[in-house]
Amino acid sequence: MDKNFYITTPIYYPSGKPHMGHAYSSIIADIFARFKRLEGYDVLFLTGTDEHGLKIQREAEKNKKNPKIFCDELSEKFKDLTKILNLSNDDFIRTTEQRHYKSVEEVWNRLVKSGDIYLDKYSGWYSISDEAYYGEDEIEENNGNKIAKISGSTVDWVEEESYFFKLSAWSERLLEYYKKNPNFISPSSRKNEVVNFVQKGLKDLSISRTSFSWGIPVPNNNKHVIYVWLDALTNYISALNFPDTNSKSYKKFWPADVHIIGKDILRFHAIYWPAFLLAAKLPIPKRVFGHGWILSDDKKMSKSLGNILDPIEIIKNYGTDQLRYYLVKEVSLGNDGNISMENLRNCINNDLANNYGNLCQRVFSFIKKNCYNKIPKPKRLTNLDNKLLNHLKNDKTKLINLMNDQNLNEFIKLVVSYSFDANKYFNDSEPWSVKKSDPDKMNAILFTACEQIKNISILLNSIIPLATEKVLSTMNVKKENISINQINNLECFDHEKELGELDILFTKIENDN
Ligand code: ME8
Ligand code: MG
Repeated sequence: MDKNFYITTPIYYPSGKPHMGHAYSSIIADIFARFKRLEGYDVLFLTGTDEHGLKIQREAEKNKKNPKIFCDELSEKFKDLTKILNLSNDDFIRTTEQRHYKSVEEVWNRLVKSGDIYLDKYSGWYSISDEAYYGEDEIEENNGNKIAKISGSTVDWVEEESYFFKLSAWSERLLEYYKKNPNFISPSSRKNEVVNFVQKGLKDLSISRTSFSWGIPVPNNNKHVIYVWLDALTNYISALNFPDTNSKSYKKFWPADVHIIGKDILRFHAIYWPAFLLAAKLPIPKRVFGHGWILSDDKKMSKSLGNILDPIEIIKNYGTDQLRYYLVKEVSLGNDGNISMENLRNCINNDLANNYGNLCQRVFSFIKKNCYNKIPKPKRLTNLDNKLLNHLKNDKTKLINLMNDQNLNEFIKLVVSYSFDANKYFNDSEPWSVKKSDPDKMNAILFTACEQIKNISILLNSIIPLATEKVLSTMNVKKENISINQINNLECFDHEKELGELDILFTKIENDN
């Protein structure tokens, strides 16, 4: 069986410093990447920055900087964010790198060769902020300005010589692909908008510009630069050594298993990208997952509303695991979701400090006081012990499927319930009351509690890696045993070895600070 897995985030515009929306996509992708590694897959997780186009050129001019230098500085901030978020990305691609130029030129040449490119003139609307062309039916008036209905961003009228891609020729093939691959566009609630758009019939797409120069020149006609979206989407194969289709990484990882993106760029990933690939005679990615929008105090984040949340600031105050956990626990992945500092604090207190953190702390400190600080080896488990363990054991396949369907919210809900049950089990079975009268029973309870802490920690590892690794290392579980197949392996512990020290995992947060 193919045990390779390739997952990507969007490559972000380094037109400003990274914000919570960027952090969100990256965290989601990181969780899936880490989970696949726990399942034993060879994973490639890619992120990066999208550095060409008019939007970046304008932003650089505003800052009186050469665009490359401007991108060098801001791209570095996105790289820093990967560390701050504790992302496990294997690569970070920048579209100003040589490896990417080679790859985009080859895609272009393939499209020329297949007869999918012709030269004409573009006249129509263009949004610099979205780097997108819009049809007359997709714009509206707003206070005397023309804006794109879908994004609200301003559009300008553009007239210039342009190369076109024969997108119109690919409608049928795309519809066929959607039909044959019903999970290609996920979640399924996102599918209709794409299918309807394609069914209306696609227009040919302008794929070069002449009115500015910050981009990859069109091979054999450097009056033109390649449209930034054709440039950007290609990053996903540039990172695999394309055009060398015989390279190890290309063969191993293409087509991608899933592109994680926000719903704003679904059209580019679910229509343009597969059409380019079809025309270039390259395989199409298996899935495009478009997550919803993060809202701050019920509104879309924007500079003018002043409600942009800075992930770095929040992490400084609350911690990396805390932010990661909150974003996936409280925001429904497929839909728009509001986040607030008050909810964040409640979530940290209730789920992390009082539930999982408390479970670990009380079980370990009981063992320290009463069992020479070693996880006891039980003679036999009681029905109650087995009941606790079997619940999770029986759910194992379900849990794996939830993750593989990007159903993070359901996954996490289940895991929280095991943690809640384990706390209750520990209370109800009262190991302190049988210490003298029935030490075997006490040992069984403590072993069961540790076993369940181990299982829960493995399940939560992709979401809160720092805390769970502390817990597992306190229990002397080896790094290589942090893996899905160790769940319910009752032979995992070293009963001769003392537990390590565990400092407070999650500090409770006062609600009025
Ligand atoms: O579109 N909530 O880059 P970009 C959730 N360079 N996610 C959000 C968000 C929010 N409020 N705001 C942004 C681009 N995002 C192109 C992509 S890919 C080949 C090229 C996330 O910097 C979400 O993933 O505008 C969205 O799709 C992405 O950031 C857009 O980032
Ligand atoms: Mg954007």
